[in-house]
Amino acid sequence: MANKNHGFFSHQTLEKNIGWMIIASILVVSFAGLVQIIPLFFQHSTTQPVAGVEPYSPLRLMGRDVYIREGCVGCHSQQVRVLAAEVQRYGSYSLASESVFDHPFLWGSKRTGPDLARVGERYSDDWHRIHLRDPRKVVPESNMPAYPWLEKTVITGQNVDQRMRALRALGVPYTDEEIAAAPKAIEGKTEEDALVAYLQGLGVGVRKAQLAKQAEEAKAEAAKKAQQPAAQSAVQPAAQAATGG
Ligand code: HEC
Repeated sequence: MANKNHGFFSHQTLEKNIGWMIIASILVVSFAGLVQIIPLFFQHSTTQPVAGVEPYSPLRLMGRDVYIREGCVGCHSQQVRVLAAEVQRYGSYSLASESVFDHPFLWGSKRTGPDLARVGERYSDDWHRIHLRDPRKVVPESNMPAYPWLEKTVITGQNVDQRMRALRALGVPYTDEEIAAAPKAIEGKTEEDALVAYLQGLGVGVRKAQLAKQAEEAKAEAAKKAQQPAAQSAVQPAAQAATGG
């Protein structure tokens, strides 16, 4: 056989030696992984907030922490996928640039309940309060647990400013004034207030930015159309003259 005296750097060395095969596989997979992952640290679409997304207000931030503590992420995802069925049910699909202020992100992977990425402003605050205290009161067939203690727990005195400073260290652009004013902003609020504020903001900024963009585009389109008849009427007489009409 021609390959009998293969050198060390031939494919046969790998195929016949499981040790080298494992090492080479790990090298190849690691390199391929880095090629996929590293660019994400530098792409604007994953590192810059999309229009409409802003850092959480102190109240919403506390609400987000309640959401994490209560394990809502175990039953609710916060990522609308690009599938038509999902977009029709929930709204525009999620972008990585919507989550740049989320440390940690709460995309989730389990949907015992519906996705919540676009739930903001879909229901009234009162609906959420009733639903959180006893889901069966508004959705009779619901199997979501009740969270009646949230309305009775006041969050004042918790270290919201320290939380904001920690997030700032991770890149969330809170100013000193915002951090200083934070404890006052949540004074007397309950965990339920905070959680409802958090839920009511989910997906809202992005939706508003998208609507504003659409309105602007429609306006530009209309302006273009308004100009066209004038241009046409200027051309038409000349064309008619040319055909002798
Ligand atoms: C055991 C699973 C489970 C857990 C844990 C859970 N939920 Fe739910 N959730 C559901 C189910 C099922 C529904 C759909 C029925 C309903 O509306 O109650 C739902 C519905 C909702 C809805 C309405 C969504 C919509 O579009 O109609 C909101 C808002 C919500 N949950 C918030 C929360 C929050 C906040 C928490 C944590 C405090 C939480 N859920 C914890 C299962 C769960």
